[in-house]
Amino acid sequence: MTRTRLLALCGSARQDSFNRRALAVAIRGAKNAGADVTFVEPRDFVMPLYDGDLEASEGLPEAAARLQRLFAEHDGVIVATPEYNGFFTPLLKNTLDWVSRPLSDGSGKPGTIHLRGKAAGLITASPGALGGIRAMQHARLYLSNLGLIVVPEQAAVPAANKVLGADGSIADDRTRDMLEGVGAAVCNLANAIGRNAG
Ligand SMILES: Cc1cc2nc3c(=O)[nH]c(=O)nc-3n(C[C@H](O)[C@H](O)[C@H](O)COP(=O)(O)O)c2cc1C
Repeated sequence: MTRTRLLALCGSARQDSFNRRALAVAIRGAKNAGADVTFVEPRDFVMPLYDGDLEASEGLPEAAARLQRLFAEHDGVIVATPEYNGFFTPLLKNTLDWVSRPLSDGSGKPGTIHLRGKAAGLITASPGALGGIRAMQHARLYLSNLGLIVVPEQAAVPAANKVLGADGSIADDRTRDMLEGVGAAVCNLANAIGRNAG
C-alpha cells in the first residue's frame, strides 16, 4: 500500500510566523499517523495578485502550475492561516484562487479537479486572545467551496507568542494534542478516502 501524502500550506510567508510553528506541530501529528508531508514554502510559490487580464495574456503563473501539480500528487492538505481582521489571509486566498483556475496543460479542466474530494484540515495561531478562531469559519467554507472535505477537528492557538517557541517547543500539552490531532485526522480521512476509492 502506498503511503498517504499530504501537503502543508501556510497562509503566512513570515519566517517567524506563529502559524508556521503551529503547522510544524500538526505535521508531526500527520507523520505519527503515517503520512508523508510536503511543506509548501510560501516564498517558493510567489504569485501575482489574481488578475483575469494577466491570466488571459500570460496564462497561469509558473508557481501556480507547480502547486497544481503538487496537489495532483497528494491526498490532502493541512492549512494554517493567520487571522486578518476576522478573515483568513489574502496570501492563502490568492494562492488557492490561482490553483483553482484551469490547468496549464490545455485540457480545460479546472484546477479544483486535484482538490475535489480530498481531505483537508485547518489550524490558526495568533498572539491575540481568540487565537484566530474567527478566520477558521471563513476558511472552512472557502476550502469546502474548492471541493475539499474539511475534517471537523480544528485548532486555534491563542497567545501563540507565548505558547509556540521558535525552537519547536510548545508550552501547553492540550494545544499540542489539538494541533497534532488535526494532522492525524487529515491523514486518517485521506486513508479512508483512498480505501473507498481503491
Ligand atoms: C492586517 C492584519 C490584521 C490582523 N487582524 C487580526 C485579527 O483579526 N485577529 C487576530 O487575532 N490577530 C490579528 N492580527 C495579528 C496577527 O495575528 C499576527 O500578526 C500574527 O503574528 C500573524 O500570523 P503569523 O505570525 O503566522 O504571521 C492581524 C495582523 C495583520 C497584519
